[in-house]
Amino acid sequence: MTSSDTNFLTLKNINLSLTSQAGQVDILKNISLSEGKGEKIAIVGPSGSGKSSLMMIMAGLQQPSGGSVKISECILTDLDEAGLTEFRRENIGIVFQNFHLVPTMTALENTALPLEFSDKFSSKAEIFKKAEDVLTEVGLSHRLSHYPSQLSGGEQQRVALARALVANPKIILADEPTGNLDQETGEQIIQLLFRLADQSGMTLILITHDPDLAARCSKQIKLVDGKIENIGKV
Ligand SMILES: Nc1ncnc2c1ncn2[C@@H]1O[C@H](COP(=O)(O)OP(=O)(O)O)[C@@H](O)[C@H]1O
Ligand SMILES: [Mg+2]
Repeated sequence: MTSSDTNFLTLKNINLSLTSQAGQVDILKNISLSEGKGEKIAIVGPSGSGKSSLMMIMAGLQQPSGGSVKISECILTDLDEAGLTEFRRENIGIVFQNFHLVPTMTALENTALPLEFSDKFSSKAEIFKKAEDVLTEVGLSHRLSHYPSQLSGGEQQRVALARALVANPKIILADEPTGNLDQETGEQIIQLLFRLADQSGMTLILITHDPDLAARCSKQIKLVDGKIENIGKV
């Protein structure tokens, strides 16, 4: 194992302060962590504790007020907007509670979206073939030309998973991916997510309210009031 495998995701002294009408809000306070490649990490903590903000910083979608984020060999916090967009496209898959699909695009088009600017495919047909393969993997080969409004919540989240996975990212960030699903559908999505993560050796960061789900991850990080309260069993 190389040091980039054991320190695949490293956050150093992350702070996030935003200014609202009420003045400055300190949302994240001195967060440091280091996670290995292929690990499944649960982030837990009460509502408002900063979980989503932390994920947005890991994804390079939010600049921290201070500190650094490194994924693989890349220091995200040193990249400009164009560099971040490119890094994200090739290395990071993101899944949200509310699916975040484009309503005017079919399941196939939504899934193909991250490959639009990829130089690894020589034609649109190849891109759609890859998107179809991943949709098949998540059990949706019969829903390729459906629009999000024509799909159930569980199916929409499967499309979102397919879209997150289509570019073979090194890391998946999932923010309460089962939060809008009934228990049985949620369990199917989690099993799928874990299976696909295991297959590809992806690192998984999973924000969840569910202690049982957190317990199935290799590590649990608990945030309280923007700080890491403890790391370990919750
Ligand atoms: N743009 C913003 N401006 C000011 N405060 C914000 C903003 N976004 C989030 N917050 C505050 O940051 C805190 C953490 O939010 P969030 O990361 O969404 O927590 P969680 O995902 O754990 O529920 C909350 O108190 C929230 O109100
Ligand atoms: Mg949140």
